[in-house]
Amino acid sequence: MKAIVYTTYGSPDVLQLHEVEKPTPKDNQVLVKVHAASANPADWHLMRAEPFLARLANGLLKPKNTRLGADVAGRVEAVGRNVTQFQVGDQVFGCLPLNELGGFAEYVCAAEELLALKPANLTFEQAAAVPLAAFTALQGLRNKGQIQPGQKVLINGASGGVGTFAVQIAKSFGTEVTGVCSTRNLDMVRSIGADYVIDYTQADFTRNGQQYDLIFDAVGNRSVSDFKRALSPNGICAVAGFTNLSRLFQVMLLGGKKIGLMETAKANQKDLVFIQALLEAGKVVPVIDRCYPLREVADAIRYLEAGHAQGKVVITM
Ligand SMILES: NC(=O)c1ccc[n+]([C@@H]2O[C@H](COP(=O)([O-])OP(=O)(O)OC[C@H]3O[C@@H](n4cnc5c(N)ncnc54)[C@H](OP(=O)(O)O)[C@@H]3O)[C@@H](O)[C@H]2O)c1
Repeated sequence: MKAIVYTTYGSPDVLQLHEVEKPTPKDNQVLVKVHAASANPADWHLMRAEPFLARLANGLLKPKNTRLGADVAGRVEAVGRNVTQFQVGDQVFGCLPLNELGGFAEYVCAAEELLALKPANLTFEQAAAVPLAAFTALQGLRNKGQIQPGQKVLINGASGGVGTFAVQIAKSFGTEVTGVCSTRNLDMVRSIGADYVIDYTQADFTRNGQQYDLIFDAVGNRSVSDFKRALSPNGICAVAGFTNLSRLFQVMLLGGKKIGLMETAKANQKDLVFIQALLEAGKVVPVIDRCYPLREVADAIRYLEAGHAQGKVVITM
């Protein structure tokens, strides 16, 4: 089968389309014929081994797992002998753990508890756009952010892969949502349900006199004192991303109980089923920026790395 492989850390130039052996499912695994995958910042962090800590996870000098791609949607091609939830032919979607990436390929094996049936109202491309970004939004808003109906929620980076899910998931919890994005994305962020939008090229959400009960930051470009100004007295800020290490360490060391990094998003079936219901109800609709064929994954990653995707970047087989 064809798969994207990298054997050395570096720029997207290290990504090559190779012919590799088709995997065989273990007893608890499902073999999925991948119809679509999607790219996440995790792919380029691992590809470049940036920050350096990524090397602790995937090999100091060269990548142990030479494959990328967390999110997949496709058809079940075979099942291991202990698999009970899926049958050959089922249409599924899900997310591979960060140490077992491999979605940028024609086939991939995944433990059955990492998959769910693809909502019938979604294409494979739409379904592949969902898992990791939606897990991040849901787990950041709910676990770290303790989201409650009626709250005033601000999403920084509302137009990106994670942000477009965060706006819609926060709305589904019955909150009033403000999305922060640039001028060209204002209409899109409104169209996915944001009650208010702030153009970060024109205004600073930390200096407009407003305070929010929950800030979900999918950019990571603000200081702890910025967040303190923009939070209501009992407000919580959940930070999902970071633009440089000094921002990261500042939030980790000075944020206190209320302002902090969310835990790394974890793929799990309970949350996938929760998100599946929102998708089926039309409360969450994936926003897809661009689709690239498998052989052009390097271009897809180059585009994503530039940091201005409008929703998700999808890979088609
Ligand atoms: N903690 C976790 O487990 C976890 C999981 C997934 C992702 N993440 C992190 O979450 C972050 C977001 O991921 P993603 O997939 O959403 O990335 P993405 O799709 O690359 O995000 C790009 C978006 O960020 C917006 N943006 C850039 N600068 C901005 C600014 N100054 N203010 C507001 N918006 C700005 C861009 O809008 P414009 O084009 O308008 O600038 C673009 O729409 C990344 O840092 C990623 O590493 C963390």
